[in-house]
Amino acid sequence: MIQTVASWLKHSASTVILTGAGMSTESGIPDFRSKAGWWKSVDPRTVASVESLTQNYELFREFYQLRIKALEQVKPHKGHEILAEWEQQGLVGFVATQNVDRLHQLAGNKQVAELHGNILTIRCEKCEKPHSKEHFMNNAVCTYCMHHLRPNVVLFGESLPQEAWNQALNEIQQADVILVIGTSLEVYPVNQLPMMAKGKLVYINLEVESQTQGFDAIIQGTAGEVLAQIDVLLSR
Ligand code: NAD
Ligand code: APR
Repeated sequence: MIQTVASWLKHSASTVILTGAGMSTESGIPDFRSKAGWWKSVDPRTVASVESLTQNYELFREFYQLRIKALEQVKPHKGHEILAEWEQQGLVGFVATQNVDRLHQLAGNKQVAELHGNILTIRCEKCEKPHSKEHFMNNAVCTYCMHHLRPNVVLFGESLPQEAWNQALNEIQQADVILVIGTSLEVYPVNQLPMMAKGKLVYINLEVESQTQGFDAIIQGTAGEVLAQIDVLLSR
């Protein structure tokens, strides 16, 4: 199956990548729904929903401070680097990610849509003025209007950034090949994107029991390992 996917990539005029938290676990960042995932120990409604921002702001802020601090020790892994090389070689045109860690950009990908925002930039919940993540680590309130500060992530119940969504939808609808990597496809509306694809749909994931109807290829494995195997075949 790896050989088939490599040949699809070789002959594809437009390849799009869709990633989830499983793309970052090899960099040391937990995902959400695996046995070691965030939501096994934290109820997402208490820290990642619009309600959590108002009802228990301190818990909300601690959760994101913890994730921002953890990111300081984290760097892209081999799989991220391969996707950046493939963009440089013209093999990949676009990355749509649910991840908020900016590791695709750190690895070198330029064409990236952050469907769930990012955790490294901060705004005031009321006046929307930007603040630094350093400020957020030490202060809970906006320096202009004294309301609560929050990272620019999409919370449960919020809409996705419209431009990122439209771009990802357009790219996926036009692509010849779409690699869906490291996502459980459990969260709406991103889990609707693969069904909008007209090209070859490839699922690369550690768990492949569900969400795989309609895919042309299913490869069980880690993102880093599978991408490295495909990369070897492409460089032949
Ligand atoms: P929900 O029904 O509360 O959220 C669905 C959201 O998706 C709605 O707010 C809707 O506006 C939005 N949406 C639907 N179609 C859209 C489109 N075409 N363009 C833009 N936005 C569209 O469902 P939920 O299960 O509570 O959560 C899913 C939402 O929360 C999604 O927006 C997801 O991105 C986001 N989310 C973010 C996190 C996080 O920690 N960053 C965690 C989980 C979910
Ligand atoms: N390689 C490949 N797949 C992996 C790896 C890996 N190294 N590590 C984990 N996985 C798989 C897991 O088996 C799981 O199916 O990645 C998937 C991650 O799924 P989730 O934890 O549900 O993460 P994701 O799909 O990104 O969640 C979507 O939910 O809570 C929200 O906003 C949050 O963006 C997130 C969204």
